Amino acid sequence: MLKKIQAFTGLLFAVFLALHLANTWLASFGAHTYDSAQSVLRTFYQAPAIEFVILLALVIHIITGLVRRWREGAGSPALRARLHRYAGYGLALVIGGHILAVRGPSWFYDVYPGFAGISFTLDFAAWYFFPYYLLLGTAAFYHGVNGAGIALSRLGLARPASGNTLRNASILAAVATAAALLAFAGAWTETGDPYASEFAQLYLKVMDEISF
Ligand code: HEM
Repeated sequence: MLKKIQAFTGLLFAVFLALHLANTWLASFGAHTYDSAQSVLRTFYQAPAIEFVILLALVIHIITGLVRRWREGAGSPALRARLHRYAGYGLALVIGGHILAVRGPSWFYDVYPGFAGISFTLDFAAWYFFPYYLLLGTAAFYHGVNGAGIALSRLGLARPASGNTLRNASILAAVATAAALLAFAGAWTETGDPYASEFAQLYLKVMDEISF
């Protein structure tokens, strides 16, 4: 039963993840393309009932994963399964902070990050945010594609991708994410002043208030 709940909630969240990663990769085509796609996608994933289902699916997916690990023990799975597990642990560790940092401002202050907000984070602390976003995107792609394959085969709907396909697709996803991050950082796109956005102003104000 737990396996089925984990598979079902993983597939639900994967719908959002696929849209979200595709949106992130569109940053390579500039701020206008990224922001326009995001405002269309938001009408779907930030519709209150849908957003609630996406976030609930994520929480249940993490909890069922942890309960299964506790009940079934760690075992000694193959490299592919171990990578899937480590990616899952890493994502579970940081996802709450990511949601709070990028969705919190629009929940509490009606301020949306958009392209300018991500540009600001990369300008503010590239040494942290570049590897963080790159790992976040690549680990989530690997975990999402591999997990969707496992879930669909559990439901008798498809077979998991071969190891080679999964590896090559994950490398492509890492390259697309790195290119998007370079675009957010202004490598070939017009970013304007990253500190001028409402998101940056809010971020700096909150940092100022909580620092001594
Ligand atoms: C790869 C780099 C990523 C960047 C630059 C990024 C950026 C963002 C931004 C800007 C938002 C706010 C969206 C909006 O205002 O409409 C957001 C929301 C969110 N992100 Fe990411 N994200 C990344 C990767 C991920 C990954 C890999 C996951 C999941 C594993 C994820 C999960 C979420 C969730 C759950 C939300 C909140 C959605 C909502 O409730 O509206 N993000 N992200």
